[in-house]
Amino acid sequence: MVPASKEPALKGQRILLCVGGGIAAYKALELVRRLRDAGASVQVAMTDGAQQFVTALSFQALSGLPVRTSLWDAAAEQAMGHLELARWADRVVVAPATADLIARLAHGHADDLVATLCLATTAPISICPAMNHRMWLHPATQANVEALRGRGVQVIGPEDGPLAEGESGPGRLSEPADIVAALAGAAPAGAPPRPRLHGLKVVVSAGPTYEDLDPVRYLGNRSSGKMGFAIAASAARRGADVVLVAGPVHLPTPAGVKRVDVRSAQQMHDAVFAALPADIYIGAAAVADYTPREPAANKIKKSSESLALDLVRTPDILAEVAASTQGRLRLVVGFAAETEKVAEYARKKLEAKRLDMIVANRVGVAGGGFESDSNAMTAYWADGEREFPSAPKTQLADELVELIAERLKS
Ligand code: CTP
Repeated sequence: MVPASKEPALKGQRILLCVGGGIAAYKALELVRRLRDAGASVQVAMTDGAQQFVTALSFQALSGLPVRTSLWDAAAEQAMGHLELARWADRVVVAPATADLIARLAHGHADDLVATLCLATTAPISICPAMNHRMWLHPATQANVEALRGRGVQVIGPEDGPLAEGESGPGRLSEPADIVAALAGAAPAGAPPRPRLHGLKVVVSAGPTYEDLDPVRYLGNRSSGKMGFAIAASAARRGADVVLVAGPVHLPTPAGVKRVDVRSAQQMHDAVFAALPADIYIGAAAVADYTPREPAANKIKKSSESLALDLVRTPDILAEVAASTQGRLRLVVGFAAETEKVAEYARKKLEAKRLDMIVANRVGVAGGGFESDSNAMTAYWADGEREFPSAPKTQLADELVELIAERLKS
């Protein structure tokens, strides 16, 4: 029996799942099961590489449909030709999308079944990259991903974390449940267009700041920057002119975003004000509230039993932006990471900093917050609020940008 669908958006959809040749191919098996649980029909096509990792038989058993593995299979072509299959699909999902497969799709190759299907289909395509983090961060891969995004391809993941080779970084295939949620969140063909941000300038701050104590040490925090980067990406996808002021993080620059890298709170302050005027400011960075009064010119040597640091307040960038007389600003959005009394403290910050909206989340709990890929949060404004249940940060960011676009209109 097919369990009740938690993702009604996928019910009845015909999904062509193209499996690439990476170690993460085994996760595509679970993806088939979850897509079917959501009420979709799934037809699988595999690259030669994918067949080195998982058998077609496994996919066939889970999808309940014959699996396509070659352009040159006369019997399969007779049952349903590859062009017919490309037409059959309501949407195409490529998971895992390896660096090579992404490159071939970006350049319009048709040298195997999967690439040909992706070229021949007119259905929306979603890719779920998975590869070594250095391959993901390579400018060639980033340019290929950017080209695909520019053509309207949805990019789901990759996630940051331990990789198969024992290293760690961005390159893990998103979890199947997150892929299904992201697919369900993407507007189906024919849906009313989402609020657009065309012609608007958006400045986003993201990540931590590092306050130097001496040439080798700093005060920092555990912000990963993922939320701010996802917000910048989402705003750019909606046509905004986006400047992303990023603290020290190892994240790829989202497509179509102008990135300014900074280290300290003061540098972030200066970069944000250099990027103004703007229509929207979103302060997603975890800015240090204090910085050493005078960083030591040389490494601080250990001497006495205890050491007191002399710290001074940093500029409150968000409050300064909200109070600035830059006439163009239409919406200033802040973030509040709280460990208790979330709503009360968030509303206090909304008022004290004279913001238009504050987005609060509880930190210090398992499965959410700074380093996690998922989060739950609530947005508050003067006479309203909206709760966002736990979801991948990319999806939350998209929903938040949608709310921001709505609030801008009202
Ligand atoms: N912020 C800022 N500049 C600072 C400090 C914070 O722009 N120097 C912004 C953050 O980007 C975030 C919001 O303010 O949008 C967080 O508010 P804040 O009151 O600083 O939160 P906390 O640092 O958590 O404050 P507290 O420690 O008092 O809870």
